[in-house]
Amino acid sequence: MSVLIEKDVSLKPYNTLAVEVAARFFVKVQSLAQLKAALAWAQQHKVEVFLLGGGSNLVLTADLDMLVIHLQLRGIEVLDEDAEYARVEVQAGENWHAFVQWSLAQGYSGLENLSLIPGHIGAAPVQNIGAYGVELKDHLESVLVYDRRTEQTQRLSAEQCQFAYRDSLFKRESGRRVILSVIFKLPKQAHLQLDYGQLRSYLAEQQIVQPTPQDVSRAVCAIRAEKLPDPTLLANTGSFFKNPVVSAEHAQQLQQTYPHLVSFAQSDGQVKLAAGWLIEQAGWKGVRHGDAGVHAKQALVLVNHGSATGKQILELAAQIQADIRQRFAVELDIEPNVIGAIAAQA
Ligand code: EPU
Repeated sequence: MSVLIEKDVSLKPYNTLAVEVAARFFVKVQSLAQLKAALAWAQQHKVEVFLLGGGSNLVLTADLDMLVIHLQLRGIEVLDEDAEYARVEVQAGENWHAFVQWSLAQGYSGLENLSLIPGHIGAAPVQNIGAYGVELKDHLESVLVYDRRTEQTQRLSAEQCQFAYRDSLFKRESGRRVILSVIFKLPKQAHLQLDYGQLRSYLAEQQIVQPTPQDVSRAVCAIRAEKLPDPTLLANTGSFFKNPVVSAEHAQQLQQTYPHLVSFAQSDGQVKLAAGWLIEQAGWKGVRHGDAGVHAKQALVLVNHGSATGKQILELAAQIQADIRQRFAVELDIEPNVIGAIAAQA
């Protein structure tokens, strides 16, 4: 099996933050055999490997002196179904939103709240994508991976993936396992998750009393489109920071100074704060430093207005982090993966 290795390829079309960096070596793989051949080539030529999916959760800070492997495994297969559930296996290179729409068209529910999230199937388990009260882990049965350490494929149950808020085994042991496909267990009778205030009020405004999964998907698309920039029109990586979790005492103290503090009690007694609210309060919404900016409609999203570098985006992020630390004594963690020369400092 041979693969076509290209040299000095621009990664601008492959990252939704539209940062201009080059990959020294670049290869597209469409099968496990091609993936193995690409990994063998890297080993033979002693170059590091970077695995690229949809590039929607990525900050590239420098040219990559590596082999960038663009995963393009495609295919959707219904494994089995009964009156209650369908089990569907989806290859890593499929587009997330297109798959959600496909599943709804088949009459399978569960993923409607996750409509319009950019990126590919293979990236979804890495950060356990979530929106409007639903997380990927709620409907994921297992993940098929290629383990670069053992050089074997392995099927990991949802439990083995160690999912948590925007976190998983794949994020913690980054680079070790290549996600090949995901099996979903999707209910055929909808159990809609409508707790998220904005979703409920949008449906009420539209006078939709008994929403279908398709109605919820349309509502989610409309709500996202209002606040979150379309990466094809304004380059971004979605939320740039995680929502921070603080102690109940800390949240109470903040509440005294900021009576309108947006906070959500967690089951373990801690309190999750809305990073977007904190950043907006600190006056950063819509701020622009050159081409690096804070989105005018959602302060949690950093945007590239044109030719910002990854480093400039990170500099803006560092200023925001320092300001939030000083004002609220809260640490904001960066959500996307930072790849490149200065990643260790990010
Ligand atoms: N808020 C502000 N100002 C802002 C942004 C938010 O005051 O500029 C307030 C809102 O008014 C609201 C609260 O903060 O009271 C939460 O805002 P929102 O509902 O927009 O959600 P978020 O916490 O900003 C999270 C996820 C999003 C996901 C939405 C909906 C994270 C890091 N982000 O954002 O996920 O779509 O909830 O569930 O958890 C992503 O991960 O890339 C992403 C977009």
